[in-house]
Amino acid sequence: MKVIVFNGSPRGRNSNSHFMVESLLEGARQAGAETEEVFLIEKDIKYCRGCFVCWGTTPGRCAIKDDMADLIDLFLDSDYVGMATPVYGMYMTALLKNFMDRFLPLSTPHILRNPDGSFYHLERIKRFPKQFFIANSGFPGEHNFTLLKAFHGIAKRMSSLGPILEIYRNCGEALQTTDDDDPALVQRIGEFRDALRKAGQEMVTNGEVSRETVALLHMELVSDEEYMAQANQGWDEMLDQGR
Ligand SMILES: Cc1cc2nc3c(=O)[nH]c(=O)nc-3n(C[C@H](O)[C@H](O)[C@H](O)COP(=O)(O)O)c2cc1C
Repeated sequence: MKVIVFNGSPRGRNSNSHFMVESLLEGARQAGAETEEVFLIEKDIKYCRGCFVCWGTTPGRCAIKDDMADLIDLFLDSDYVGMATPVYGMYMTALLKNFMDRFLPLSTPHILRNPDGSFYHLERIKRFPKQFFIANSGFPGEHNFTLLKAFHGIAKRMSSLGPILEIYRNCGEALQTTDDDDPALVQRIGEFRDALRKAGQEMVTNGEVSRETVALLHMELVSDEEYMAQANQGWDEMLDQGR
């Protein structure tokens, strides 16, 4: 059993995304899985050129020579694949979007109609790994992920079942708070990390994550007011210094 996460944060190993991913993968390992986190920022991934060579001239193979062919192999060789991203401009990072675009060689030009009237391309690959998503936003509240939930569409493109788990973590910039700053919040973050470990374990053991665990993953870390006060305090200090 192999669980891979592609981390689309430009902050890579220092990201809040990584902070979440490492706990989830720890849980997956405790349940016996082999795991890996791929930091997309460390990879050579060029833009899709839209040349469609991967559909016509060399079906299934992209014309661009970079790290993408190996990453697609890694994707296909996994049982569970996660995509992690911070919210950027209400959506995923350009890094992750670029990575997703490069999966075009896995589909064909053949257009089919869904029962709901929408359209899709026939996939070249018959077996896709199960997928999950991990997003975090800098804002508090629940309005940060509306566009990002279109992510769902991309997962659906690759698996008719859609993602088996979606984590939409607000107040992401609070995740790496230290005891010196706020011990009560650090304890709450500890509970959140326990929930991430549990999600990783359940995914590997049961093939899905229970509703109770999903609810825990969306627990309030800190009130909107406290989070705003903390963020704005730093800003006020900068204003005082005339910056
Ligand atoms: C260019 C840019 C755009 C952003 N846009 C949003 C946004 O639309 N909504 C939001 O809640 N946070 C936004 N953020 C904040 C990030 O989502 C937040 O800092 C997040 O915790 C970073 O996660 P990471 O450490 O995993 O990269 C933005 C940050 C940057 C740098």
